Amino acid sequence: MNARPAPTSPTAAIVLAAGEGTRMKSSLPKVLHAIGGRPMIGHVLETLGAERMAPIIVVVGPGMDDLAASVAPHRAVVQRQRKGTAHAVVQAKSALKGFKGDILIVYGDTPFITGATLQKMRAVRRKNNHAVVVLGFRPNDPGAYGRLIIGANGLERIVEAKDASAEEREVRLCNSGIILADAGALWRLLADVKADNAKREYYLTDIVGLARKAGLTCGVVDGESEELLGVNSRAELAIAEDILQKRLRQNAMAGGATLIDPSTVYFSADTKIGRDVVIGPFTVFGPGVSVEDNVHIKGFCHFEGAHISAGAIVGPYARLRPGAQIGSDAHIGNFVEVKNAVVEKGAKVNHLSYVGDARVGAKANVGAGTITANYDGFGKHLTDIGAGASIGSNTVLVAPVKIGEGAMTGAGAVVRKDVPDDALAVNSSRQENRDGFAAKYRKMKQGVKSKPALKSAAKKKTKKKK
Ligand code: UD1
Ligand code: MG
Repeated sequence: MNARPAPTSPTAAIVLAAGEGTRMKSSLPKVLHAIGGRPMIGHVLETLGAERMAPIIVVVGPGMDDLAASVAPHRAVVQRQRKGTAHAVVQAKSALKGFKGDILIVYGDTPFITGATLQKMRAVRRKNNHAVVVLGFRPNDPGAYGRLIIGANGLERIVEAKDASAEEREVRLCNSGIILADAGALWRLLADVKADNAKREYYLTDIVGLARKAGLTCGVVDGESEELLGVNSRAELAIAEDILQKRLRQNAMAGGATLIDPSTVYFSADTKIGRDVVIGPFTVFGPGVSVEDNVHIKGFCHFEGAHISAGAIVGPYARLRPGAQIGSDAHIGNFVEVKNAVVEKGAKVNHLSYVGDARVGAKANVGAGTITANYDGFGKHLTDIGAGASIGSNTVLVAPVKIGEGAMTGAGAVVRKDVPDDALAVNSSRQENRDGFAAKYRKMKQGVKSKPALKSAAKKKTKKKK
C-alpha cells in the first residue's frame, strides 16, 4: 500500500476560464462579470487563497488579456483552441512543472464554492488515498451535466449527458466539474485522454474511468446545489447576485447590524460593517466600503470606496464616493455628495452640499448648499476647512482655498482667497430695502392678470395699426 500523503500535502489549483461565455452576449469575458461588486473569478480566487492553495494557475482563452492581467499575482496560461476540459488542464502543466502534491481543478464561472467543501474533498482523498476525488451534486434538473456512475467499488466513471445511455441519464448524482487529484496521477491519466465522444473534445471527466482501469480508486463528495451554481447567462448572473446578497445581509445581521428592510440593502462582497450599525432601507454599498460601530445610516444612500467612523450619522439620500472618509460622530445629511474628502470628527455637512477634494476640520459646520468648486476644467484642487469653521449657506469655495480655524463665511459667499483663522469672509453687495415696493409690484401684477391674455391683446394692437 502507498503511504498516505502528509496531512499538510500542498495543493495547487487550476482555474478553467477559457470559455467564451457566448450566452452572456458580452464583450467582457464571462468570469469578469461582477457578483457583489467583485468579478466572478475573484470569488473563486479568494476562496482558493484562503485555503492556502498555491500556485494558482488560471487557464484563459486567446485575446483575454484583461482577464489574464486581472488575476495577477496568479499566473494565467492561454488555451489557444478550445478542445475540451482535459485539454484546458494540460495547458497548465508546464506552469506546474515539478509540483508535487494535490491539484484542484475548479471553474471560474462557479463562484460560490466554499473552503469547507474543498476541505472535505482533501480529507476524503487523504483518508482513502484516492487518485481522484470528484465533487458531485444533485441538481433539480440534471440536464446536460455529466453523470457520476457508482459501482461496487465506488466511483467508476463519469459519462457526459450527450454520451450517456437512457439508463445512465436517469442518474441524479452529477459532476460539478470540481476535481481534486494527485498531481502525478493527473498528468499520467491526462496523457491517455482521447477525443472519442459526441463532442469530439478531450474530456477531463475521462480521467476517472482511466484511473479505475489503472487500478486506482476514485471518490465522491456530495456538494450543495446552491454552492455549485454555474453562471452562463445574465439570468443566472442575477440568480447568483441574489444568493450572494442574501448571504451578505445575513452576515451583516449576524455581525450585529440592524437592517430595517434587509431585502432592499445591497452589499459588496468586501463590505465591512461593524456592530450596532443601523442601516435604513434602499442603501447600496459599492466596493471598498467599511463602516465602524454605532453608525446610523438613514437609508436611500449610495456608497463606494468610503469609510464611515464610529458614531457617524449618514443620510438619508447621501452619496459617498471613493476617498470619502467620514470621521467619528460626524453628520452627513440629505443630498450631500462627498468625494475624496476627509470630514473630521464631529463635523457636520447636513444639507445639499458637494464636498470634493477637501478636508472639513473637526466640528466645522458646512451650511446648506455649500459647494467646493474643485475642478477648473483641467485639474482638481483642494479645499481645506479648519476645525470649528462655519461655512454659510450657499457658499462657493473656489479651490485651491483654505478656510482658517474658527473662521466664518457669509451666506452666498464666493470664496476665492484664503480666510484667516477666526475671520469672516463676505463678498455680497450691500443690501438695499425699497419701502413698499413689494405691495406696489403685487398690485401691478394683479391688474395685468384681470386684463385679456397677452396674445389677443397683441393681435388687437396690430389690427389698429392697419
Ligand atoms: C462540464 C463537465 C460535466 C459537468 C459540467 C458542470 C466535462 C467534459 N464535462 O461540462 O461533466 O457536469 O461541466 O458544469 O468536463 N473550459 C475551458 N476550455 C475548454 C473547455 C472548457 O477552459 O476547452 C472551461 C469553461 O470555460 C468552463 C469549464 O471549463 O468554465 C467547463 O466547460 P463547459 O464547456 O461548460 O463544460 P460542460 O459541457 O458544461
Ligand atoms: Mg458548462
